[in-house]
Amino acid sequence: MLEECLSGLNLKENGVYFDGTLGGAGHSYEILRRAKNSVLYATDLDEYGIARAKEKLKDFDGRFFIFHGNFKNFPEIAERENLGGFDGVLLDLGMSSFQIDDKSRGFSYLAENEPLDMRMNKEVSFTARDVINGYSEKDLARILKDYGEEKFASKIAKSIAEARKTKEITTCGELVGIVEKAIPVKFRYENGHPAKRTFQAVRIEVNGELEGLYEAIVSLTRLLKKGGRIAVISFHSLEDRIVKRAFKELATDCICDKSLPVCVCGKKKEAEVITKHPITASSEELAENSRSKSAKLRIAEKI
Ligand SMILES: C[S@@+](CC[C@H](N)C(=O)[O-])C[C@H]1O[C@@H](n2cnc3c(N)ncnc32)[C@H](O)[C@@H]1O
Repeated sequence: MLEECLSGLNLKENGVYFDGTLGGAGHSYEILRRAKNSVLYATDLDEYGIARAKEKLKDFDGRFFIFHGNFKNFPEIAERENLGGFDGVLLDLGMSSFQIDDKSRGFSYLAENEPLDMRMNKEVSFTARDVINGYSEKDLARILKDYGEEKFASKIAKSIAEARKTKEITTCGELVGIVEKAIPVKFRYENGHPAKRTFQAVRIEVNGELEGLYEAIVSLTRLLKKGGRIAVISFHSLEDRIVKRAFKELATDCICDKSLPVCVCGKKKEAEVITKHPITASSEELAENSRSKSAKLRIAEKI
């Protein structure tokens, strides 16, 4: 969804951009290449990813500034450093392919003896092992259902709780084995790999991916200049619902009760939603990258 996203951002020469999810710097590279003389600020939770991205962006030295940290904290940095007036903000949520491909990071259900880790930010001590061994059966079932949209959430949570009574669950392979056995054979391979949804759910929990997302979208939009655009790519329905709700909030005037004769809330519309319906991946992109199947792009413009 690179092209759709870049064209949706309406890139300009001499622009100021923020990429909150730098990742492999695919989007950042194109922003710097296409928007001549522009400046890019970026954040990522993953220090290893940042080192790779810096290498990729080296042709644009002096035009980009990268911060290791959560994009949710960027509005504060922007205020402190007086960086207001952005032309574009991009959030490409979720994880990068280099994170999944490196099995030692524990994100992949194809990993075996690798530790249950799943941290994007290695400075944080909380890992997937803590979730799997420390959460109550009820909380496990809740995150598997809510973040993984896993039909067999309760069964899997029960099997995890049972298995850890004898031994702490420490590797990706052990978790995969437990999940596989918990799903009835008939449904096991119904929707891709049986552990796919469990791994997604645990990763979202470990990295607190949904916490503060709504507030971050609202405050990052407020960093934009008039006519500046925010593009957000999400990968699952809960995330997309948050993006949609934040854009709706930004695009709404007065929210007073209709029975009141005059507005008392003082709320003013701050943005226009450009994508009435989310943009999804083209058939060419789907053929190249199956992960793009669940991607949804929404764009709004500051007024
Ligand atoms: C889908 S990838 C981005 C790919 C990137 N657009 C590219 O072109 O290569 C998401 C990246 O965002 C990072 N990330 C996820 N949540 C984050 C957050 N709240 N703050 C900062 N970075 C985050 C992940 O570490 C990952 O590298």
